Amino acid sequence: MRLAGKTVVLCVTGGIAAYKAADLTSKLRHAGAAVRVLMTESATQFIAPMTFESLSSNRVVVDTFDRNFAWEVEHVSLAKAADVFVIAPATANVIAKAAHGIADDMVTTTLLATKAPVVIAPAMNTGMYDNPVTQQNLETLRARGFHIVDPAAGRLACGDTGRGKLADTADLIWGVEKAVTPQDLRDRRVLVTAGPTQEALDPVRFLSNHSSGKMGYAVAARAALRGAEVTLVSGPAALGTPQGVRRVDVVSAREMYEAVVSRADAQDIIVKAAAVGDYRPAQTADEKMKKGEGDLSVELTRNPDILAELGRKKRPGQLLCGFAMETQNLLDNASDKLRRKNCDLLVANSLRDKGAGFQTDTNLATLLFADGRRETPPLMPKEELADIILDRLLMLSQSAR
Ligand code: PMT
Repeated sequence: MRLAGKTVVLCVTGGIAAYKAADLTSKLRHAGAAVRVLMTESATQFIAPMTFESLSSNRVVVDTFDRNFAWEVEHVSLAKAADVFVIAPATANVIAKAAHGIADDMVTTTLLATKAPVVIAPAMNTGMYDNPVTQQNLETLRARGFHIVDPAAGRLACGDTGRGKLADTADLIWGVEKAVTPQDLRDRRVLVTAGPTQEALDPVRFLSNHSSGKMGYAVAARAALRGAEVTLVSGPAALGTPQGVRRVDVVSAREMYEAVVSRADAQDIIVKAAAVGDYRPAQTADEKMKKGEGDLSVELTRNPDILAELGRKKRPGQLLCGFAMETQNLLDNASDKLRRKNCDLLVANSLRDKGAGFQTDTNLATLLFADGRRETPPLMPKEELADIILDRLLMLSQSAR
């Protein structure tokens, strides 16, 4: 979570969803952000300022002419203090005012004065939301660089069904995080593989490995937050799809091969964090295999090597990042894979290092570059390592241009 230490100016405007801004305030505080709440007069009809004062530990400002005793012009000082400016819920009225530079209350005067990134989360009746005027106003704001967190569809408080429900708190937090994250991967298409593969022996048994998917999901999540268009090809994993990521579920190595190779050409960057089964049973029984008296031998056959195939087909300008999971001779094996599979970067991690590899929330890895450079960042959360991997890939793509 990159909101720690940030100041969020949260503006609550007058709609039934105003009560949901209380949860947002609480979650933002939980993420380490300082929250300063501004409310319109009409928002105070839906929820009391006291709620936000308790949750934010800060005084709520409603009246532009409120005397603040610090002898500061409050709307200017809050506009300057904001690392990010959020309007949630945003009514059709405040959206219209924002689009046209109208500043007639504390929320809109502060908005006009701020240089911080602005996040707008509309919530209103479907008819008001779908009205071309509102849509045009949102388009104006989008074109001006405002981050719009689209409302959800569903049954609304007014009884109508359609678009207009305030987005979930998790989506709002993601929108805020995205607004404070440099969009250095904007317009890049990134494909990430994650998790294990399962190779069926019969309808109830399979060969697999201990991959949880955490490393690959972290790369996908960070790439999406940094503005990339992300496809995550995932083996069976008990993890939620990261926000902003298109996920394609596969089970076996051959399914992963099809899903990845068919999409590969369209990608700028491919990161292969999945632990793909090198072998599968030569035969998959149609029915459950019955236990016999003696031992059982299973013949295994090779799976396609997806990374090697991607390395063969790599188009100019495309970057390929492989992983290597080893239990011995980590760097020798990894540099061999880097070369054989035509990777630009290889992330080598060892099952022997504490806190590294399968299932952990952290990883310790050495990054090997095609030109022979190596880098070993310290043990760190997988999200942080994901950012370093993406930073290095971005650097490689810029130096190739
Ligand atoms: O998922 P987690 O629990 O977070 O664990 C993370 C991880 C340990 C799985 C991850 O950090 C990692 O090391 N992933 C690669 C694991 C692996 O399969 O390593 P390998 O050395 O066997 O494979 C080398 C590379 O070839 C990998 O990029 C792999 O995706 C790819 N490969 C392997 C076999 C195959 N048939 N096709 C492939 O594309």
